[in-house]
Order: sequence, then structure tokens, then C-alpha cells
Amino acid sequence: MQMFRTKTSTPDDFEESGLRRCLSATDLTLLGIGAIIGTGIFVLTGIAAATQAGPAVTISFVIAGLACAFAALSYAELASSVGGCGSAYGYSYAAFGEIIAWIIGWDLMLEYAISVAAVANGWSGYLCQALNAIGFPLPDELTKAPELGGIINLPASAIIFFLMALLIVGAKESARLNAVMVSVKLITITVFVTIAVFNVNPANWDPFMPFGWFSHNADGKPVGVLAGASIVFFAYVGFDAVSTAAEEAHNPKRDVPIGILGSLAFCTTVYIIVAGLLTAIVPYADLNVASPVAHALQLIGFRWASALVSTGVIAGLTTVMLVLYYGLTRIIYAMSRDGLLSDWFSTVNARTQTPIRVIVICGLFIAAVAGMVPLGELAELVNIGTLFAFVLVCFGVITLRITQPELKRPFRTPINPVFPLLGAAMCLALMGFLPTLTWVRFVVWLGIGLVIYFGYSYRHSRLRQPA
Ligand code: ALA
Repeated sequence: MQMFRTKTSTPDDFEESGLRRCLSATDLTLLGIGAIIGTGIFVLTGIAAATQAGPAVTISFVIAGLACAFAALSYAELASSVGGCGSAYGYSYAAFGEIIAWIIGWDLMLEYAISVAAVANGWSGYLCQALNAIGFPLPDELTKAPELGGIINLPASAIIFFLMALLIVGAKESARLNAVMVSVKLITITVFVTIAVFNVNPANWDPFMPFGWFSHNADGKPVGVLAGASIVFFAYVGFDAVSTAAEEAHNPKRDVPIGILGSLAFCTTVYIIVAGLLTAIVPYADLNVASPVAHALQLIGFRWASALVSTGVIAGLTTVMLVLYYGLTRIIYAMSRDGLLSDWFSTVNARTQTPIRVIVICGLFIAAVAGMVPLGELAELVNIGTLFAFVLVCFGVITLRITQPELKRPFRTPINPVFPLLGAAMCLALMGFLPTLTWVRFVVWLGIGLVIYFGYSYRHSRLRQPA
């Protein structure tokens, strides 16, 4: 895939793009799977099971998956009709105009930047587990955020610098590399599932729902299956990244909906199986660790499989970070070209042909966050931002059906407006199950965004100017 030659598209310019159309429906589905399967299933499943949902984390996955399915149908409609690689940012421009588009673009920056930091945390957990296993443990203070008793999560920051260097020299998000990495992840999961199936202990599923549906624990943190759903939702983040490839698909109107819905359906199935088995082979209370899948295999006596899974996860999570990091630079690049952010950001380096400034600034920010903030808090922040984007995309479908009924819609969300409304309602409900502190952080982030919009973007917007 070619990178960084992006623009926000509107219905009229959907066909006009300088990007090379080289991706098939299968490539897009694999791209989605590459971006989706990551820290959510390999790490958060354990944390959510141990602290929020128990074995019923499996139901949390079903609920979060259902919310995503409704939202994905809306994404599929807008990707096939509005198109463009700006994803929800571009769709919001078409449906609601500039200020909402800005808000959603600003929100997507949060989603992508923080999710890279969160996945880096998951990556670090598995790396430390692997180093431990081969007898080279890192000191605890250098593998934990200050809030968890450490100084910095050094591996989490270090991997970001590595990815930054890759992006600067112009590493491409190649469909082939992605396919290899997806295979590694799927082999990893297959190894786990094959062993776990023969080591199920039904006693581990009793009690099945120790935290109930929804309540607050002694620290005031939300717990229960629904709170668990609002956390494991993170595992689904990334299917929207397929929509950013709309301008590079052979036949976007058909293939992008297939890519979005296909990858989501596949991942949902995998998640339900893995979550069910993970909580069935060991007691859920043992899963509150940084590398729960490898840890569980170790607990049931499969050390070799534990090492294999750790290696697979370390490789697999690297692509998740790479795709999301790319996505972030893409969105900032698109907004900068539209004049909403300074041109300074969209300057492409003549030698490397990559937007080095955006890559470096984003990398420094992500590395700092990854090293200093624990995974759980990062995931909550990503989720609230992503859920908000999903809500707007669902309303975008309803709005555009009214304001632009003539727009060609090769893929139509069924039973409009019921499905988009269900999607918006479920996403809003999941937002409601997130902690108050997450809401405060989110509102502060949006507030900063509005200050920038009225202080800069409003006056510099290129798309709003008549000429
Ligand atoms: N869905 C991606 C993950 O779980 C972000 O890592």
C-alpha cells in the first residue's frame, strides 16, 4: 500500500485518487485481522476476567462484538458511498460539516495514538515474559509505569522508537508482510486453542459471573460483565482501519464492506473461543498478569507452548502498532492538507518521501505515554474515543440518507434507521460503563481540540473557503 498521499474525499471525488488500487477483498480482510487481533485478546481478556467479569468475560466479548457489528454496518455503508481514506473524519465532513469533522478527527488522533501506546504495553508484557523464560529478566522498575510501582515501562517506549525509525525510512504497510504476520498470529492462537481444548476444567467456570452484570467495587471502579465489555471493546478497535484503505482497493464499493464485516466476524468468533477457553483452563483470578495467555499455558504445564505463544504475540503485536501508527500519521496528514492543522505537519521529506515531522512528534508523544501510563487506563481512553467515533458514524448514516438520498450506496446498512440507532445506543451504553476519570480525560481532550479549532483551524480551513 502506498502511504501518505491522502486527501479527505467527498461523494463527488470518491473516484479521484492518486493512490494505486492494489488491494483485494482478501487483502482488506487480512489487513483488518492484522490490525484487530492484539493486546485486547492477548492481555485485556485476562485482566477483565480477573478483575471485572470472571469467566463471563466471554459474554463481555459477545456484547462488545454486537455493538461493533452494528457500527461496522454503518462504516461499511459510508466507506462504500462516501469513501476516502479519512475514515470517520471524512464521513463526518460529508454528513455534518467541518466542526464535527474536526472533533472526530481530533478524537481519532486520541484513539490511534493511545491505542499504539496501549498495544506497546501489551507487547512489553509478553517480551518480559519471554526474557524471564530464557533467564534474562529485566528489573521490575524498568518494566512498569510509575503508578504500578516502577519508574518507566522501558520496552514499551523502546518499541515505539523502533517503529518510528521504520516509518521514517519509509517502511511500507505491505499487504504481503501483513499476511505473514496475520499467519503468525493465527498459528499462535491455533496452538493455544489446540492445547486448551484438551485441558478444560469445568470447575474453573464456577462461579461463571462472580461480579454480576454491573456494579462498583470498593475502589469505586466499575465491575461486572458490562464494565468488562467496555474494556474488552479494545480488542475490536482497528476494524475501522480497513476503511482508510478505501482508495487503494480494486473495487472499494464491494471490497471495503467485505473487508470490514469479514474481519470483524472472524475476530469475534476467535475472541469468544479464546476467552472461553482461557477462563476454562485456569481459575480466572490467576489471569491478572501482563501476559495471561502464555501464563495460563505455563500454569497447566506447557512451558514450550508458553514460549511459542509469547514469541508469536511479540511478532503479531508489532503489526498492530505499525498499522495504527500509520493510521495516526495518515489522519493528521489528511487534516493538515485540509488546512485544519498547519502545513508544517504535512511536509513530506524529499529524500525519504515520508512525513518525518508527524512521525517524530507522534512517536515522542506515544513513547512517553506508553512508558508512563498503565495499560488499563490507556485502553479505557481509547475505548471512549473510539465509541464516540462509532456513535457519530451511525448517526452519519441516518443523516446522509436524509440529506443526500441520491448518493450511490453500493452497500446499504439494513433496516435503516433501526440498525444505526441500535449501534449508536449500544456504543453510548458502553461509554456509560467506563470510569468517571476516563470521561474527564476525554472531555479535557475534546476541550483542547475545540480551542485549537477556534484558535487556528477555523481560519485556515481550505475546504470551507469558496475558492
Ligand atoms: N484491537 C487491537 C488490539 O487488541 C487494538 O490490540
